[in-house]
Amino acid sequence: MEGSPHRRWSAVLTALCTFFALAVNSSVQEFLSIDCGADVGRTDGAGIKWVTDDGYVKTGTNVQLETSKIFPFYSARVFTEKRSKHCYVLPVRKNSTYLLRTIQYAGQSTSTASIAFPVSFNVTVNNEVWYSFSGQTDLDRLPFLFESVFYSLQKEEVDVCFVAGASGTPFVNSIEMRELNPLSYYEVQRGGVYRFLVFVGRYNTGQPSNSSYISYPDDPYDRYWLRVTNSSRAGVANSSVLAPPTQADQTTAGWNFAPERVQEDAWVGTDLSVQFIRAEGAPRAYAAWYFQEIRNLTAAELLRNPTQMVVGLNYKSLALNLSTFNPQQVSMLVELESSTTVDLNLISPNGSRPAILNAFELHWAYEVDQSTTNANDATVLKSLQSIFGLEDWQGDACYPVAWDWVACDGDSRIIELNLSDKNLTGPIPDAIVELTQLQKIRLDNNKLNGTIPQSLRTLKNLQILALDNNNLSGDIPTAFLDRAGFTFFGNPGICQVGGNCNSTAPKPSPAPAETSKSDDDSNEKFFIVIAALGLVIVVLVAQLVFCHVRGNRYRSRAAHVVT
Ligand SMILES: *[C@@H]1O[C@H](CO)[C@@H](O)[C@H](O)[C@H]1NC(C)=O
Ligand SMILES: *[C@@H]1O[C@H](CO)[C@@H](O)[C@H](O)[C@H]1NC(C)=O
Ligand SMILES: *[C@@H]1O[C@H](CO)[C@@H](O)[C@H](O)[C@H]1NC(C)=O
Ligand SMILES: *[C@@H]1O[C@H](CO)[C@@H](O)[C@H](O)[C@H]1NC(C)=O
Ligand SMILES: *[C@@H]1O[C@H](CO)[C@@H](O)[C@H](O)[C@H]1NC(C)=O
Ligand SMILES: *[C@@H]1O[C@H](CO)[C@@H](O)[C@H](O)[C@H]1NC(C)=O
Ligand SMILES: *[C@@H]1O[C@H](CO)[C@@H](O)[C@H](O)[C@H]1NC(C)=O
Ligand SMILES: *[C@@H]1O[C@H](CO)[C@@H](O)[C@H](O)[C@H]1NC(C)=O
Ligand SMILES: *[C@@H]1O[C@H](CO)[C@@H](O)[C@H](O)[C@H]1NC(C)=O
Ligand SMILES: *[C@@H]1O[C@H](CO)[C@@H](O)[C@H](O)[C@H]1NC(C)=O
Ligand SMILES: *[C@@H]1O[C@H](CO)[C@@H](O)[C@H](O)[C@H]1NC(C)=O
Ligand SMILES: *[C@@H]1O[C@H](CO)[C@@H](O)[C@H](O)[C@H]1NC(C)=O
Repeated sequence: MEGSPHRRWSAVLTALCTFFALAVNSSVQEFLSIDCGADVGRTDGAGIKWVTDDGYVKTGTNVQLETSKIFPFYSARVFTEKRSKHCYVLPVRKNSTYLLRTIQYAGQSTSTASIAFPVSFNVTVNNEVWYSFSGQTDLDRLPFLFESVFYSLQKEEVDVCFVAGASGTPFVNSIEMRELNPLSYYEVQRGGVYRFLVFVGRYNTGQPSNSSYISYPDDPYDRYWLRVTNSSRAGVANSSVLAPPTQADQTTAGWNFAPERVQEDAWVGTDLSVQFIRAEGAPRAYAAWYFQEIRNLTAAELLRNPTQMVVGLNYKSLALNLSTFNPQQVSMLVELESSTTVDLNLISPNGSRPAILNAFELHWAYEVDQSTTNANDATVLKSLQSIFGLEDWQGDACYPVAWDWVACDGDSRIIELNLSDKNLTGPIPDAIVELTQLQKIRLDNNKLNGTIPQSLRTLKNLQILALDNNNLSGDIPTAFLDRAGFTFFGNPGICQVGGNCNSTAPKPSPAPAETSKSDDDSNEKFFIVIAALGLVIVVLVAQLVFCHVRGNRYRSRAAHVVT
């Protein structure tokens, strides 16, 4: 899916430029629009307020992009430091539906802190792999846009993490979050089953090719609607014909609210079909179709002879009639099973008026893995971070991949702390023993002082306690003497003049074999976690290539259009 499809972005970019060039005065919604790597916030031509990423992310550096004339691509945040993940932590309300969007545009940096190619990294939302970004050469310095819809459960934050691959530096140019009506994209929460939607495409069918890109404020949710112009077009309706959603529609779960600008054009035909290639591993497809009769009919005629249509997604189909000028919508979630394609079909049954399609969209739907680090352990880690000045580790400690300095077990408990060589000062915090499942504690090669807490004895599973090369003093708890894997050498205050310590010779440092085994363990864990998440590469624009419109067919039926 990579390679040439990426180039298609340039067409959409042109459309975006047109849109951004329009100065639209409109009231600004409560959106969160982050201009990553920017030094100052700004308000764009559509009246959307962009903020810097200060406060949302604690790692990475700002890079200015000299070739970019298009906002929000002036700057990027680049994660040069090698870490298992770099996370943005964004505020959300509980039990709410959000649209999340990023743009990645590598451009050319004005400084030496450039984005290194080849680059490969995964972007995750809480525990879900959202997309894999991979650019091989400088030719991939194009803008890529990604979107998802997620439902926030009991957490008041969402973690958007950049999980580094073997090469290059992860980077991001913008992160946008829009809260949606809780009834829209209802599949993210239907029946208490939580799903993560990964955007494939959202198409505004029939929009004339030289009209501007539809986005905010034409869409109060600020979604991107791609024009699909190779089609019959029903024509722009007299807008007095367009009726708003009814009160009933607005309280119907699954109502996604297409804006009027999207509804005012349509494809018309007796058999409208679009085919997409299934993303590898995508378990389900979620599609929504938007309808509104905009042809030159009277209300009485429409009521007497409704527009009859049958909507299909692979093996599933549904009949609907339009008998008023009010908008209607159909959405479907289907299991993909062994299908390699997703076929969206719309037909008009025999003898009826040709079908009309104003817009449609497609997403892959993944069931949400709600795992989080054990709440008690997470609280203890927070206090250790504050004691040791490690607050720049953000996101969940264990998921989707663990912080470099912790290891977790299958029950989301912390079993290992590796804070070797972290320049830590002060006493060993008593809070450590509240991580009751700890098997390994490495605090060696720091500047810790004070005594070794007796309370560490309560850690029943402790196998390794590396405290060498610190400034610790006093006795070694007797229970820790002569235990393999417990090392205290290089602490001048231990077992020295005046001390009532019985320990004698310094213990050797942990066997190198142990160290490398542990490294292997953590690498393996990382691999398994990532592989199990079933990542999909989704490049919005690439989908246009797969959006195979059977153009000839409806062209020949354009004569059916009543205007
Ligand atoms: C969110 O939904 C859950 C389950 O329906 C409910 O128990 C909880 O009170 C809700 N929380 C908020 C803040 O609405
Ligand atoms: C991203 O995820 C995929 C599968 O989900 C995995 O194969 C790949 O190694 C991951 N890449 C990185 C950079 O983590
Ligand atoms: C495209 O633009 C031209 C000139 O602005 C205009 O005459 C024409 O009607 C437009 N076409 C459509 C389909 O809107
Ligand atoms: C639209 O329809 C209304 C009522 O049918 C009519 O009054 C108005 O003139 C029409 N406008 C256009 C531009 O055709
Ligand atoms: C649509 O209208 C036709 C004709 O009025 C009717 O036979 C059919 O049952 C209706 N279908 C639906 C889904 O309402
Ligand atoms: C409906 O279509 C089928 C197959 O195209 C055709 O055999 C049948 O005669 C049609 N029926 C009507 C009422 O047009
Ligand atoms: C350790 O801390 C000292 C004093 O705070 C500082 O000067 C030094 O640069 C730090 N070293 C590292 C490797 O962070
Ligand atoms: C430990 O070191 C800190 C400075 O890092 C110092 O303020 C404190 O008094 C020391 N405590 C002991 C017990 O030596
Ligand atoms: C040290 O060892 C001596 C005898 O070997 C013993 O009497 C004393 O209690 C020990 N002290 C501690 C603190 O363990
Ligand atoms: C502990 O972390 C340090 C880096 O801080 C790393 O060099 C070392 O290999 C780690 N040790 C183990 C056993 O994972
Ligand atoms: C529409 O698509 C068909 C086939 O995909 C192609 O042959 C035709 O030239 C296209 N028409 C326009 C106007 O782009
Ligand atoms: C709409 O239909 C009416 C009656 O069929 C016709 O008089 C009128 O000109 C049509 N309007 C347009 C814009 O085609």
